[in-house]
Amino acid sequence: MVNVFSTRELPKAGTDLLKAEGITLTQWHEKRELTFDELVAYSKAADGIILSGRNKVDAAFLEACHHLKVISLFSAGYDNVDIAAATRWGIPVGHTPDVLSKATADTAFLLLLATARKAFYHHKRILAGQWGFFEPTAGLGIDIHGKTLGIFGLGSIGFEMAKLCKNAYGMDIIYHNRNTNEKAEIELGARKVSFEELLAQSDAVSVHANLSDAVKGIFDKEAFAKMKPGAIFINTARGPIHNEAHLTAALQDGTLWGAGLDVTTPEPMHKDNVLLSLPNVSVLPHIGSAVQETRDAMAVLAAQNVIAGIKGKHLPKCVNPEAYRP
Ligand code: DGY
Repeated sequence: MVNVFSTRELPKAGTDLLKAEGITLTQWHEKRELTFDELVAYSKAADGIILSGRNKVDAAFLEACHHLKVISLFSAGYDNVDIAAATRWGIPVGHTPDVLSKATADTAFLLLLATARKAFYHHKRILAGQWGFFEPTAGLGIDIHGKTLGIFGLGSIGFEMAKLCKNAYGMDIIYHNRNTNEKAEIELGARKVSFEELLAQSDAVSVHANLSDAVKGIFDKEAFAKMKPGAIFINTARGPIHNEAHLTAALQDGTLWGAGLDVTTPEPMHKDNVLLSLPNVSVLPHIGSAVQETRDAMAVLAAQNVIAGIKGKHLPKCVNPEAYRP
């Protein structure tokens, strides 16, 4: 009998695939994260796991569960997994990139527009009974047509965001990335720039990088100070890429015009967080990929990854192909 444990209830599109393979799936149904000990106990009884939420697969977990044939993430990001340790144990780690790129870019685009037009603030005013007297000079947003969008991390999500902004608003696209993105340069006229140039030239910066030590906290006081006056900061990637205290200060003292966040530190954000009271800030609860079609596609890919891993085959989307031993 083959057993898979999932830390969340998965969309049916994925569970049907596992069932068709004769795999016995155990799902965590409680609305809280598993403790470390619970995760180890369930994983010990499984051949592979599907991981979603905030549980960490660290060196201690892998030491206890190195029998696993595969770890399949229900996410594109893999910063909650010690990839080097999984590789040392020869455990392939699957993830779900690409299928969520459009939905996540839509969320970044939504935050950019909502922030530029202070949509969340105006909605809060209506709820508070403050939709009153019309004032031609009050509550104004900024126009993003024809402005410059700076993409930090131009992978597949960043590309979709750049495409939306180019097509909808004729925005100029610049990007900072390790590699040159030829497709973006040819199709969108995107221009690769240094980090300093990205900060200095962008009217809006949108973060789409994977979280790694190299980018942790890179958007800090110094970076915000180098941004164009009146710029907007958008992050739909991972909260720790920006320093939240520095971001709050930059918004309060007017260094930045506004910010749109789908990711925070910690998550969930505390309801009393000062960012929620600022008029030019839009915060969403990490819903980047949260549309039915995308979640179904993620479930299918997560299931395909786990099935391949259990059969000893290469995963369709693998973070650490070097984990395979000949
Ligand atoms: C992802 O896929 O990485 C999303 O941000 C969910 O964690």
